[in-house]
Amino acid sequence: MKKLFLPFLFIIALPLTSLLSGCNVKGFFTSYDDDPIYESPVTEATSGGDAGGSSADASPGAKTFKEVCSSCHQTKGQGVPGTYPPLAGSALAQNADATKPIRIVLHGFQGAIERNGKTYNGVMAAWSQLSDQEIADVLTHVRSSWGNSAGAVTVDEVKAVRDQTAGKVGAYTEAELN
Ligand code: HEC
Repeated sequence: MKKLFLPFLFIIALPLTSLLSGCNVKGFFTSYDDDPIYESPVTEATSGGDAGGSSADASPGAKTFKEVCSSCHQTKGQGVPGTYPPLAGSALAQNADATKPIRIVLHGFQGAIERNGKTYNGVMAAWSQLSDQEIADVLTHVRSSWGNSAGAVTVDEVKAVRDQTAGKVGAYTEAELN
Protein backbone atom coordinates (compact mmCIF):
# COMPACT_ATOMS: atom_id res chain seq x y z
CA MET A 1 0.00 0.00 0.00
CA LYS A 2 2.80 2.39 0.91
CA LYS A 3 4.43 1.88 -2.49
CA LEU A 4 1.31 3.19 -4.18
CA PHE A 5 1.26 6.32 -2.13
CA LEU A 6 4.27 8.13 -3.62
CA PRO A 7 3.26 7.92 -7.30
CA PHE A 8 -0.22 8.83 -6.24
CA LEU A 9 1.07 11.91 -4.45
CA PHE A 10 2.99 12.89 -7.56
CA ILE A 11 -0.05 12.56 -9.74
CA ILE A 12 -2.05 14.93 -7.63
CA ALA A 13 0.88 17.18 -6.76
CA LEU A 14 1.96 17.85 -10.33
CA PRO A 15 -1.23 19.50 -11.61
CA LEU A 16 -1.49 21.33 -8.32
CA THR A 17 2.02 22.77 -8.65
CA SER A 18 1.35 23.65 -12.26
CA LEU A 19 -1.74 25.44 -11.14
CA LEU A 20 0.12 27.37 -8.46
CA SER A 21 2.96 28.31 -10.76
CA GLY A 22 0.56 29.68 -13.34
CA CYS A 23 0.47 26.50 -15.42
CA ASN A 24 4.16 26.94 -16.21
CA VAL A 25 4.87 23.23 -16.33
CA LYS A 26 8.06 23.84 -18.30
CA GLY A 27 9.27 26.23 -15.63
CA PHE A 28 8.58 23.62 -13.06
CA PHE A 29 10.91 21.19 -14.75
CA THR A 30 13.58 23.67 -15.75
CA SER A 31 16.55 23.85 -13.44
CA TYR A 32 16.88 27.24 -11.81
CA ASP A 33 20.56 27.26 -12.64
CA ASP A 34 19.66 27.68 -16.31
CA ASP A 35 17.74 30.81 -15.54
CA PRO A 36 19.96 33.84 -16.11
CA ILE A 37 18.02 35.79 -13.50
CA TYR A 38 18.61 33.21 -10.82
CA GLU A 39 21.86 33.74 -8.97
CA SER A 40 23.07 30.71 -7.14
CA PRO A 41 23.97 31.58 -3.54
CA VAL A 42 26.44 28.69 -3.60
CA THR A 43 28.62 30.38 -6.22
CA GLU A 44 29.02 33.44 -4.08
CA ALA A 45 29.75 31.57 -0.89
CA THR A 46 32.39 29.34 -2.46
CA SER A 47 34.09 32.05 -4.51
CA GLY A 48 35.10 33.72 -1.25
CA GLY A 49 37.28 30.72 -0.62
CA ASP A 50 36.01 30.55 2.91
CA ALA A 51 33.25 28.00 2.61
CA GLY A 52 33.96 24.72 4.30
CA GLY A 53 32.88 21.29 3.29
CA SER A 54 34.56 21.32 -0.09
CA SER A 55 37.71 19.77 1.26
CA ALA A 56 38.23 16.14 0.40
CA ASP A 57 40.26 15.70 3.59
CA ALA A 58 38.11 13.53 5.82
CA SER A 59 40.84 12.64 8.32
CA PRO A 60 39.93 12.69 12.04
CA GLY A 61 42.22 15.71 12.49
CA ALA A 62 40.43 17.62 9.74
CA LYS A 63 37.11 16.81 11.39
CA THR A 64 38.23 18.04 14.82
CA PHE A 65 39.71 21.15 13.23
CA LYS A 66 36.43 21.92 11.50
CA GLU A 67 34.39 21.30 14.65
CA VAL A 68 36.63 22.95 17.24
CA CYS A 69 39.21 25.31 15.75
CA SER A 70 37.77 26.65 12.50
CA SER A 71 35.25 28.95 14.17
CA CYS A 72 38.18 31.17 15.15
CA HIS A 73 41.10 30.18 12.94
CA GLN A 74 38.79 29.75 9.90
CA THR A 75 38.35 26.75 7.62
CA LYS A 76 41.59 27.28 5.75
CA GLY A 77 43.58 28.29 8.81
CA GLN A 78 43.79 31.84 7.51
CA GLY A 79 42.55 33.36 10.79
CA VAL A 80 40.96 36.78 11.15
CA PRO A 81 43.54 39.58 10.94
CA GLY A 82 43.88 41.35 14.28
CA THR A 83 41.55 38.92 16.08
CA TYR A 84 42.51 35.26 15.48
CA PRO A 85 46.05 34.58 14.26
CA PRO A 86 46.48 32.45 11.14
CA LEU A 87 47.61 28.85 11.54
CA ALA A 88 48.45 28.69 7.84
CA GLY A 89 52.09 29.72 7.74
CA SER A 90 52.32 29.96 11.53
CA ALA A 91 55.90 29.41 12.67
CA LEU A 92 54.67 28.49 16.12
CA ALA A 93 52.24 25.85 14.86
CA GLN A 94 55.01 24.40 12.69
CA ASN A 95 57.72 24.61 15.32
CA ALA A 96 60.03 21.63 15.07
CA ASP A 97 59.44 21.30 18.78
CA ALA A 98 55.79 20.29 18.71
CA THR A 99 55.42 20.75 22.45
CA LYS A 100 54.60 24.44 21.91
CA PRO A 101 51.43 23.95 19.88
CA ILE A 102 50.56 21.00 22.14
CA ARG A 103 50.86 23.21 25.23
CA ILE A 104 48.67 25.85 23.56
CA VAL A 105 45.90 23.37 22.82
CA LEU A 106 46.11 21.83 26.30
CA HIS A 107 46.20 25.07 28.30
CA GLY A 108 45.28 27.95 26.02
CA PHE A 109 47.16 30.99 24.82
CA GLN A 110 46.84 34.67 25.72
CA GLY A 111 48.56 38.03 25.71
CA ALA A 112 49.86 40.35 23.05
CA ILE A 113 51.58 38.72 20.08
CA GLU A 114 52.57 39.97 16.67
CA ARG A 115 52.09 37.87 13.53
CA ASN A 116 52.67 39.01 9.94
CA GLY A 117 52.73 42.63 11.06
CA LYS A 118 49.39 42.38 12.89
CA THR A 119 48.96 42.60 16.63
CA TYR A 120 46.77 40.10 18.47
CA ASN A 121 45.81 40.26 22.09
CA GLY A 122 43.18 37.62 22.53
CA VAL A 123 42.55 34.61 24.68
CA MET A 124 42.40 31.10 23.35
CA ALA A 125 40.75 28.75 25.81
CA ALA A 126 42.24 25.41 26.80
CA TRP A 127 41.05 22.36 24.86
CA SER A 128 42.27 19.78 27.39
CA GLN A 129 38.93 17.99 27.14
CA LEU A 130 40.11 16.67 23.76
CA SER A 131 41.81 13.28 24.02
CA ASP A 132 45.53 12.84 23.38
CA GLN A 133 44.59 11.18 20.10
CA GLU A 134 42.33 14.07 19.05
CA ILE A 135 45.01 16.65 19.86
CA ALA A 136 47.67 14.65 17.99
CA ASP A 137 45.36 14.34 14.99
CA VAL A 138 44.25 17.96 14.91
CA LEU A 139 47.80 19.29 15.25
CA THR A 140 49.06 16.87 12.61
CA HIS A 141 46.33 18.27 10.36
CA VAL A 142 47.27 21.89 11.16
CA ARG A 143 50.98 21.20 10.60
CA SER A 144 50.41 19.62 7.18
CA SER A 145 47.62 21.75 5.68
CA TRP A 146 47.34 25.02 3.74
CA GLY A 147 50.99 24.98 2.74
CA ASN A 148 52.23 24.04 6.22
CA SER A 149 54.82 21.29 6.16
CA ALA A 150 55.83 20.25 9.65
CA GLY A 151 56.02 16.77 11.05
CA ALA A 152 53.15 14.79 12.52
CA VAL A 153 52.37 14.94 16.23
CA THR A 154 52.11 11.61 18.02
CA VAL A 155 49.80 10.52 20.82
CA ASP A 156 52.86 9.83 23.00
CA GLU A 157 54.11 13.40 22.57
CA VAL A 158 50.73 14.81 23.63
CA LYS A 159 50.52 12.43 26.58
CA ALA A 160 54.02 13.41 27.75
CA VAL A 161 53.23 17.14 27.54
CA ARG A 162 49.91 16.62 29.32
CA ASP A 163 51.71 14.85 32.18
CA GLN A 164 54.55 17.37 32.38
CA THR A 165 52.22 20.40 32.41
CA ALA A 166 49.51 18.95 34.65
CA GLY A 167 50.11 21.64 37.26
CA LYS A 168 49.84 24.54 34.80
CA VAL A 169 47.24 27.10 35.80
CA GLY A 170 45.77 29.41 33.16
CA ALA A 171 46.73 29.99 29.55
CA TYR A 172 50.31 30.33 28.30
CA THR A 173 51.71 33.68 27.29
CA GLU A 174 54.30 33.88 24.55
CA ALA A 175 57.00 34.56 27.16
CA GLU A 176 56.05 31.43 29.09
CA LEU A 177 56.15 29.28 25.97
CA ASN A 178 59.69 30.26 25.10
C1 HEC B 1 37.56 30.82 20.53
C2 HEC B 1 38.57 31.04 19.50
C3 HEC B 1 39.64 29.99 19.29
C4 HEC B 1 39.50 28.63 19.10
C5 HEC B 1 38.21 27.83 19.09
C6 HEC B 1 40.82 28.11 18.90
N1 HEC B 1 41.75 29.12 18.99
FE1 HEC B 1 43.76 28.93 18.68
N2 HEC B 1 44.00 30.92 19.11
C7 HEC B 1 42.98 31.81 19.40
C8 HEC B 1 43.54 33.09 19.73
C9 HEC B 1 42.77 34.34 20.12
C10 HEC B 1 44.95 32.95 19.65
C11 HEC B 1 46.00 34.02 19.95
C12 HEC B 1 46.05 34.30 21.45
C13 HEC B 1 46.85 35.56 21.76
O1 HEC B 1 46.48 36.62 21.24
O2 HEC B 1 47.84 35.49 22.53
C14 HEC B 1 45.19 31.57 19.20
C15 HEC B 1 46.45 31.03 18.93
C16 HEC B 1 46.69 29.75 18.49
C17 HEC B 1 48.00 29.23 18.12
C18 HEC B 1 49.30 30.01 18.07
C19 HEC B 1 49.46 30.54 16.66
C20 HEC B 1 50.61 31.48 16.51
O3 HEC B 1 51.16 31.57 15.39
O4 HEC B 1 50.97 32.13 17.50
C21 HEC B 1 47.83 27.93 17.78
C22 HEC B 1 48.90 26.94 17.32
C23 HEC B 1 46.41 27.63 17.92
N3 HEC B 1 45.77 28.77 18.35
C24 HEC B 1 45.84 26.41 17.65
C25 HEC B 1 44.50 26.12 17.82
C26 HEC B 1 43.92 24.81 17.59
C27 HEC B 1 44.67 23.60 17.08
C28 HEC B 1 42.59 24.91 17.90
C29 HEC B 1 41.56 23.80 17.90
C30 HEC B 1 41.85 22.67 18.75
C31 HEC B 1 42.34 26.28 18.29
N4 HEC B 1 43.50 26.97 18.24
C32 HEC B 1 41.10 26.76 18.67
C33 HEC B 1 41.63 31.53 19.38
C34 HEC B 1 41.06 30.27 19.21
